[in-house]
Amino acid sequence: MAKIILEQEKCIGCGTCQALCPKYWKMAEDGKAVMISEEGKEEKVEMEVKDISCNKDAADSCPVQCIRINDRNS
Ligand code: F3S
Repeated sequence: MAKIILEQEKCIGCGTCQALCPKYWKMAEDGKAVMISEEGKEEKVEMEVKDISCNKDAADSCPVQCIRINDRNS
C-alpha cells in the first residue's frame, strides 16, 4: 500500500496529473486537482492505493510539486 498526498492549496490547476494519470486524477470545478480513490471516491487530501502506478508520473511532473507519495513497500 502507498499513500498519495495532495497539497491542494498549492495546486495551480495545470492539469498534468489528470493528463498523465486519469484513473486517479481529475480537475474539480474550482480548477484544482482532486484524487479518485480505488473505491471511486473523490479525495482532496490523501488516498491509499495498492499500486502507485501512474501516480508516480503525476507526482514527478506536477510543476509545483504538490503531490507526494509515501510508499510503504519500499
Ligand atoms: Fe495541480 Fe499539480 Fe495536478 S498543479 S493540476 S496537482 S499536476
